[in-house]
Amino acid sequence: MTRDTPFSQRRARLLETIGEGIAVIPTAPEVARNRDSDFPYRFDSYFHYLTGFGEPQAVLVLVGGERPRQILFCRDKDEEREIWDGYRLGFEAAREALGMDETFSIDELDAQMPSLIADQPRLLYPAGADRGWDARVFGWLNEVRGMARTGIRAPATLTDVRSLLDDMRLLKDAHELATMRKAADISADAHIRAMRLTAPGRMEYEIEAELLHEFRRRGSQFPAYTSIVAGGANACVLHYRENNAVLRDGDLLLIDAGCELDGYASDITRTFPVNGRFSGPQRDIYDLVLAAQHAAIAAVAPGRSWDEPHQAAVDVLVRGFIDLGLCEGTPEAVIESGDYRRFYMHRTGHWLGLDVHDVGDYREAGQWRPLREGMTLTVEPGCYIRPAAGVPEAFWNIGVRIEDDVVVTPGGCEILTAGVPKSIEAIEALMRSGTD
Ligand code: GLY
Ligand code: MN
Ligand code: MN
Repeated sequence: MTRDTPFSQRRARLLETIGEGIAVIPTAPEVARNRDSDFPYRFDSYFHYLTGFGEPQAVLVLVGGERPRQILFCRDKDEEREIWDGYRLGFEAAREALGMDETFSIDELDAQMPSLIADQPRLLYPAGADRGWDARVFGWLNEVRGMARTGIRAPATLTDVRSLLDDMRLLKDAHELATMRKAADISADAHIRAMRLTAPGRMEYEIEAELLHEFRRRGSQFPAYTSIVAGGANACVLHYRENNAVLRDGDLLLIDAGCELDGYASDITRTFPVNGRFSGPQRDIYDLVLAAQHAAIAAVAPGRSWDEPHQAAVDVLVRGFIDLGLCEGTPEAVIESGDYRRFYMHRTGHWLGLDVHDVGDYREAGQWRPLREGMTLTVEPGCYIRPAAGVPEAFWNIGVRIEDDVVVTPGGCEILTAGVPKSIEAIEALMRSGTD
C-alpha cells in the first residue's frame, strides 16, 4: 500500500502520463575528489523529486499499466559500512518509509531489470545523461532481445523520461513552494548579514564566509551554486568566483549567492556600496537597474509570455542608457541594433527549483511559453560597464545586478526574496545600523 506523500503523488502522476511502459530513474553517482575523498554527495534532482530519498546507489522503477508498480532498488543495511560511513535506510525499511510497493537490494538490479523490462512496450529513462547507465540499460535491453525466441518482446520505444518530468517540475506544488520559501528566507538573511558586515579593507572571501555561516547555521546543506562576491570591477565579470580581492572604499560590492535547502535552490543578487553610501554615478546606474527590475516583476503574471519581463527590463535599461550617455539613438534603434548588450548581455531570468537553472522549456511550438501559476523564476536585470572609449569615465567599472526569486500567482507574482532591502535608502539605512 503506497503512503500518500508529495513524492508518491508525483509518482502517481508520472505513471498516469506514462500509461503502458516502464520508467527507470537512477540517482546520481558518488564522485571522487581525490584518493579516498569524495565530493559532498548530492542526489539526482529527478530521482529526489519522485522519492525524497537522499542516499546514493538507488534506482526508482515505475511500471505503468493496469497494475502499476512502484519499485525502489537501494543499498542494503551493512553494519561494517555503517560504522565507517553512517546510517543506511536499507531496502527492507525503505518500502514502508518511502511508500513503495516493492524494494530490493541494489545488488539485485542487473538480475531483476531484464524481466521487469520484458514485454513492456516502452522504456523511459534519462537517455544520454550518463554513459555508465546508458551501457547498463542497453545491456538489459539486449538481454531481453535475446529472449525473442521464447516470445518475449523488448520495448520498441525509448523515451527520455526527463521530457515528462521537466513539465511536471516546472509547476511547483505546495510542498515545493514551502521549501523554496524557507530557502529564500535563509538566503535573504544571509545577504542582510553580509551587508551589515561589509566594510572597506575586508576581503571578498570574508564576506563569502558570512553568507555560508548563515546558510549552514539555518540547516541549508549546500550553497545552490558557487557564491559570487565581487567588489569593484570584479562585478563586471559575470561568473566571478575567485572571491579573493580586498574591498575598497568607494567601490560597490555585488553578491550573487543563494542556499540550497532540502534540494531546492534560492538565487539572490544584491549590489551595495562597500562604505555604506552610494556615489552619484553609482546611484544613477543602481536606480536604473532597480527600475528595470520593478518593470520586469510587474510583467510576471499568468498568461504573460516568458519573454515579457525581459522585454520590460530591456526597455527601461535602454532608455536609461541613452539618458546617461552610454548609448546613442532612439530606444527602438538601440533595441533593434542590440547596442545595449555592451552593458546588459544576459537575459533577465531563468526557471528556479531543484536546480538553480531549473528544467523546463522556455518555448513551446516556437513561441515563448506563457507564464502559469506555480512557475518559479528569477528576475535579475543588471548593468556592467567596462572601461572603453566613448563610455563616460564616471561609470567605468560599475557592475550592478539585482536578483529576486518570484512565484507566479493568480494576480501576478509573489517575491520570495523580498526580505533583503533593495532601495538605496533601505540599503544605506541597514548599513548605517551595522552590527547593532
Ligand atoms: N547565480 C546564477 C544566476 O544568477 O543565474
Ligand atoms: Mn539567477
Ligand atoms: Mn544569481
